[in-house]
Order: sequence, then structure tokens, then C-alpha cells
Amino acid sequence: MPTTIRLRHSISLHRNALITLPNVRSVTSGIPLPRKSRLARTTSVAPMIDVTNPHFLHLLRLISSSHTLYSEMVHANAIIKNAPSPSSPASLYRFIGDPHPDTVVQLGGSDPEQMARAAKIVEQVGFGEVNVNVGCPSDRVQHGCFGVVLMKTPDRVASILDAMHAHGVHIPVTVKCRIGVDDLDSYEYLCHFLSTLLRSSLPPTHVIVHARKAWLHGLSPKQNRTVPPLDYERVWRLAKEFHGLVVTANGGFDTVEKVRSGLERCDGIMIGRKVMDEPMFLQTLDRELHNIPPTALRPISEIIDRYVGLCITISTHAFSTHNPAYNATIYYAPSQRHTPSLSLLLKPLSMLRTGGAGRRFRRCLGEAMVEGKRNEWALRKVVEVALEKAEEMGAMDMAEGVETEEDVAEEVKEAVVA
Ligand SMILES: Cc1cc2nc3c(=O)[nH]c(=O)nc-3n(C[C@H](O)[C@H](O)[C@H](O)COP(=O)(O)O)c2cc1C
Repeated sequence: MPTTIRLRHSISLHRNALITLPNVRSVTSGIPLPRKSRLARTTSVAPMIDVTNPHFLHLLRLISSSHTLYSEMVHANAIIKNAPSPSSPASLYRFIGDPHPDTVVQLGGSDPEQMARAAKIVEQVGFGEVNVNVGCPSDRVQHGCFGVVLMKTPDRVASILDAMHAHGVHIPVTVKCRIGVDDLDSYEYLCHFLSTLLRSSLPPTHVIVHARKAWLHGLSPKQNRTVPPLDYERVWRLAKEFHGLVVTANGGFDTVEKVRSGLERCDGIMIGRKVMDEPMFLQTLDRELHNIPPTALRPISEIIDRYVGLCITISTHAFSTHNPAYNATIYYAPSQRHTPSLSLLLKPLSMLRTGGAGRRFRRCLGEAMVEGKRNEWALRKVVEVALEKAEEMGAMDMAEGVETEEDVAEEVKEAVVA
């Protein structure tokens, strides 16, 4: 007979959700039962610097609306410096995009006051959630004493949460961390780290745990995303024992099957590189995991069309305060300092197609971009030229029998989605 020992009581958290504290520890043993997630969206796209910028997030929203999106990490100081003011009402949106209910802004920093002020600004401009980065191992971030080094000083992270509470931050605050850092890699240490945060005056409502420990010396951030090996068992155990805490697992989820089985062990699954390399994977999840009928999903051609339209609207809105002469029809004009570069706008589109079709599209996009820059083409024209050339090239390859089996499979897949 499974038993649950209540070591402490439940408390009401700031967002009015009655959540049982994690020190209400379950000692149930045996095979874990399938869980019922406590997240409105069980799948999310990981924060990725230089990837999940506002434009990429717009593209992802056109692909699907079933997943929570995380902004790339933005330093608290950048938020404070760009807080909306009468002279500069919109520069903040260059970093974090327009407020959107599906989007969480990830903050980097270690100064409690600064982090709290930044969180309050994020709340005031209309975002519904902030996330504190306690997972990034890069040298620059380490020198700034934030990211995963903060796992070594749980009291400092708790002070950040306390400061947010003191500043009256009401939106949910979550934390993204690793299972350990350097030699602080025992399960007990991870529990100590989380328990310290949960004793703060603003306990995180949800933690996202990257199931790979961080090595701060001798490994680059890129290497540290493949070594040491992932240890999901740590995350499953956490999700089982910290009953009241909403736990999302991250790291290496690149197939529907892995996501599905992960969701049987914790509340949510966060996906990074798979979405970076193949954004349409979100629609695969929609069909195969969230049971959305293919007819309800947007085809690639419409996604591209709407993305281009959105880029023009967003950028006009976000940049017009700096440059009232901004002309949305001639999108790329090098003289306009704050206009996002053509390559920045086109990058999110480049991975939309996979296989041979993807390779052709990326090549044609690159060529059209060079031509577009030279001739100051509008964004739409660059994309249309690239699409047309890619189609011609595809037809030629097909006629010459160059098309690989992979291309054909890809085409069939796309036709089914459409
Ligand atoms: C290009 C890139 C940039 C990243 N930037 C961030 C970041 O800004 N904040 C963060 O918490 N993690 C960052 N990460 C780590 C991811 O959020 C994620 O934890 C990691 O990639 C493991 O998930 P995956 O195996 O699904 O990719 C980044 C990862 C990549 C590949």
C-alpha cells in the first residue's frame, strides 16, 4: 500500500495555486505511475542564445501554438537599460519581443536587486512569467558570476527570489538549472539546492532541470551539451520525491517517443536543439503527441508567407521610434542603424525544410540574400526569389533523377501535413 508522509504543511504561493511543498516527500516505492501534468503546456522550447530571438519565436508561433516558448537569456542589466521610457518606448522589444502569453523571458544575472528590477519590468510590460538562468556554463557568463555557477551558491539564488518578492513581482518565477555542477553533483546536493530556493519568500513554481551536470573547466558550452552523459533518473527521482514542485526535464529529447515517455515521469519536457535544427518538429509533436489533426496545422508555404508579413509589422513597430523614416516596403536599408539585418530575419526560415528540399532552400536563400543586400530588396522579394529558385532546382533534380529517397519521403511528409 503506497504511503505518503507529510513532513510539513502546504502553502499558498503567490499565484494563488495551492501547491504542496516539496518537503512533503513521497516515499512510495516501486514503478512510477503515469503522471498527470500540472502544466497547461507540457512541451516547451528551450532558451537558446542567438536562436530563440524574437523573430525565431514568431516563426515558432506560426508553426504551432501548443508549446511554451523561452526567450534567449537576456542579462538583467540589458532589461533595465532598455526599460520603456518616453524617449525610447520600444527598444526592450528588440531583445525580448512583444509580450506574449506563451512566452517566458529568461533572465541572466546574479545581483538580486538588478534581477528583481528586471523581473518587475518584464512583468510591467506584460509578460506572464520569468525564468532565472542557473544552467549556462559559458566562460563569459561564469566571469559575470551567473548561469550555472549560481548552483554553487543556492543562498544567492534564494536572495534573488527574495528580492523579487520584495519588489512585488507577482508573475510566476521559475528556475532552469542542471543536475549538478563540477563536484557538487550528488542527488543530495541537488535536493539541498532546490530546498534552499523553496524556502525563499518567492519559491519557484516550476523548475526545469537539464539532465546533464555542468563541467566548468576544460569543456566548452558546446561540449558540455553532449558530455558528461545525461542522467534522467535524477530528474525522475526529483519529480517523484518533490511532490509539490512542477518539474520539467530537459536534454536530448529529440523524438516523439522520448518526449512521450519523459512525460510519464515528470510534468513537462523542454526541447532545445531538435527545434533549432527542425522547427517543424513542433508540428510532429502536435500530430503525434497532442493529437491535433493534420488539417488543423499550418502548411510551410503559409508559415513563410505570414512570417514575412509579421517581420515587416513587428520591425516597423519596434524600430520606428528610433527611425521615423523607416520604410517597411524597402526592408533592408544599411543606412538604418536599428533595422534588423536581413540575415537575422532570414535565419529562422532556413531550417524550415529538411532533407534535400531543405538544402536547396538554404542554398537559394543564401544566394537571394546576397543579391537582396546588393540591390536593397524588400524581405518578401528575397524570400520569393529563393522559393522560386529552390522549386526550379528541385524540379531539375527530380527530372535528372538526383532526388534521393530522403527527398521523396520529405515531400510526402509535407504533403500529408499540408
Ligand atoms: C545555441 C544554444 C544556445 C543556448 N542558450 C541558452 C540560454 O540562453 N539559456 C539557457 O538556459 N540555456 C541555453 N542553452 C541550453 C539549452 O537551453 C538546453 O538546455 C540544452 O541545449 C539541452 O537541451 P537539448 O538537448 O534539447 O538541446 C543553449 C543551447 C544552445 C544549443
